Formats: sequence, C-alpha cells, structure tokens
Amino acid sequence: MSTLSEKDQMKKKVGEYAATFVQPGTVIGVGTGTTAYWMILALGAKVKEGFDIKAVPTSKQTEDLARAQGIPLTTLNDIEQLALTIDGADEVDPGWQLIKGGGGALLQEKMVAAASKRMLVIADEQKLVPALGRFPLPVEVIPFGYKQVYRKILALGCPSVTVRAAADGSPYITDHGNYILDCHFGVISDAASLGEALHDIPGVVEHGLFIGLATEVLVGYSDGRVGELKQ
Ligand code: 5RP
Repeated sequence: MSTLSEKDQMKKKVGEYAATFVQPGTVIGVGTGTTAYWMILALGAKVKEGFDIKAVPTSKQTEDLARAQGIPLTTLNDIEQLALTIDGADEVDPGWQLIKGGGGALLQEKMVAAASKRMLVIADEQKLVPALGRFPLPVEVIPFGYKQVYRKILALGCPSVTVRAAADGSPYITDHGNYILDCHFGVISDAASLGEALHDIPGVVEHGLFIGLATEVLVGYSDGRVGELKQ
C-alpha cells in the first residue's frame, strides 16, 4: 500500500508524466520542489537506461538530487538556450501567470525559465486559482537594508509582509545569500504592474510572479488523472 498522501500522489503522477515530454539530445531546466522531485527521479531512471540529456538545475537542492540520480549537469553560462524547463508552481491562474518561490528558489528558477524556449509547469489541482494572491508572494531581497524594502512593499498596499524564517528562527537564506519577504497581497488583479513596481524598489533582487513564461501546464488531479491545460 502506498504511504503517499493524496496530494503527494498527484505530485508524483504529474512529475513522472512530465519526464515523458523531454526529448533526447536536449538541454533542459530542472525545477525545484516536491513535484519536480518526482520528475527528476523519473529522468534519472531514463538516464540510467541510456537516455541522453543535460540539465541546468534551478537550485542547490535540485543540483544535488540530479547529480545523485546520475543526470549530467551543465550551467546557464555554458549554453545559449534551453529546449524546455519543467518546474512546479505555488499558484497558476487561468492566463498561466504563476506565483513561484515557495521553495525559495525563485531567482534561479526565473533565470532558467527565461532562458528556455518552453516552460512546462507541473502542478497538482490545488495550485489552480481564479486569481493569484492566496499564496503569499515571495520577494527575494538583499539582506543589506532589507527593512527599507519591507516598508516600501507595505507602501505598495501590501497588508502584511513576513521575513521568511529558517527552522531555527533566523532569516531563511537563499542559494544566493539573500532573504525572502513573503508578501500577503491578497488578490493580485494586475500582476504585470505589481511586478514592475517591485522591480523598481532598490534592494529587490527578484519576485515570484512569473508572467508570460509558462507555455504548457500539466495538472495532477485527485482522481488520479493527469491533464494538460488548454488556453
Ligand atoms: C520553489 C518553487 C516550487 O516550484 C513551488 O514552491 C512548488 O513546490 P511544490 O512542487 O513542492 O509544491 O517555486 O521555489
């Protein structure tokens, strides 16, 4: 009997199915999180059978996992363009705008997605929302003077901002040495404008709004189906 929760089973199914979208001989971006985990395991199994790919990881965690699975790695500096990136999401709206960064890897994830011809999003059905904003928007900021950034985000109309904490209560540190501010905006009606306003704040490194990057979305449903969304 499987010990996975219903949610984890959805993540496993959609992650494993996503691995079938990868073409041999390509360089792909591999995402971060508990859904991408299953995709990386499935890719690792294919590589062990001789499947030829190279991967650019979106975090240290993914780099370690992919390496342990025997997946050959390369870097964003060593390639011009990736054929495909497969990554999870915290929220997906009907226009395929995303909130990402729940796992703290949004900076590298966005850079890898932006360098890819296609971005395949893998999500369980609970990630589909009518409008972004139920999930707090992660914003990566440099530690220097971060309280200034914090105040400027509140001044944009965000009712509550929290500094993401590590298990010991100290600020969570990203792979790139930064902090994450989790911004509880509530419903985000104009993600593009909000994204621009956040980028205009000195000290903001990147935010978790992914706009115009997703080209395909695969969804795992609680009844065991995996479906591809159509626009
Ligand atoms: C990490 C991310 C993840 O893709 C996102 O948090 C979804 O994670 P999971 O698949 O574990 O639900 O953006 O920065």
